Amino acid sequence: MKTQFEHISVLSQEVVDFAPESTQTILDCTLGGGGHSKRLLEKFPDAKLYGIDRDRLALKAAAKRLKTYEEQTRLSQASFSELPTFFTKHGGPLFDYILADIGLSSEQLVRPERGFSFLQEGPLDMRMDPDRQQITAAYLVNNSSEHELLKILRNYGEGRFARKIVGTILAVRETKPFETTRELAELVGKVIPKRLQKQGFNPATLTFQALRIAVNNELQELSVLLEQVPARLKPNGRLSIITFHSLEDRIVKHQFRKWENPCVCPTDLPYCICGEKPLGRVLTRRPVKTSKNEVADNPRSRSAHLRVFALDKTAS
Ligand SMILES: C[S@@+](CC[C@H](N)C(=O)[O-])C[C@H]1O[C@@H](n2cnc3c(N)ncnc32)[C@H](O)[C@@H]1O
Repeated sequence: MKTQFEHISVLSQEVVDFAPESTQTILDCTLGGGGHSKRLLEKFPDAKLYGIDRDRLALKAAAKRLKTYEEQTRLSQASFSELPTFFTKHGGPLFDYILADIGLSSEQLVRPERGFSFLQEGPLDMRMDPDRQQITAAYLVNNSSEHELLKILRNYGEGRFARKIVGTILAVRETKPFETTRELAELVGKVIPKRLQKQGFNPATLTFQALRIAVNNELQELSVLLEQVPARLKPNGRLSIITFHSLEDRIVKHQFRKWENPCVCPTDLPYCICGEKPLGRVLTRRPVKTSKNEVADNPRSRSAHLRVFALDKTAS
């Protein structure tokens, strides 16, 4: 039986290198197995680390991994949208470094019972927090209207076969509701013509991605995180975000640009009249990506993009 929490932290040296010198307070918004947090505490052994994860099992694994640092860590099961409550509970702390390594841990992906994997038979679930989230992927597939399903697959899956997939789902669910990951993965594999399937890429990838984003409200969660962060960073504090697909990376890139250049004056105006002040600067003009070596060691890291924003000395 598997007892170890299965996850290799991505871009961990880079995450540590981007932390401000003499970091004293850290917020890890995606503890997972606690890998990044541990690396940060090794570098800043006196720092206080606050951490959240919406997945109870991740939280348990992180607490175990960070046991040596128990006295200086404050860990809670919470999602990004619960950060305001988390901050209030802890007396409104400010942070030198905030990290979010968004997406799934390998542990969530490899456990068939979590229902994230199209490679293994399991319930069509996909909830990151099965204790508190009610809506599963099976519920969405079996109960959403044609319009809702199309919206999910088009907006979150960027897939060109959305209409065909949704049409087939609607026909099949008339006779039997979807229950398992394999039922859905096989349907998608049949609907997308073989000659149009990308080599080395499971045809169900984007459909599963889309459903997962919808089940976990992932893009809205990311927006709340980005809304919350500026007020929680100390002057000179930094925010590092790792994303794994272009929808999230785009949101982060645009928000960072807006923080760096919030002026909304017409471009032909010779001076600024809107009064919007930059919050700081983007430290990564292009996203930092994983090296060939890291991808060879951990193929799941290949789509990771790290972007870092530094708050100004005077901003808060
Ligand atoms: C890629 S893993 C993090 C791995 C971690 N950095 C490490 O080194 O072990 C992503 C984690 O973020 C959590 N997560 C994703 N979205 C979240 C959200 N909106 N709120 C809280 N946790 C979230 C997932 O449950 C998962 O455990």
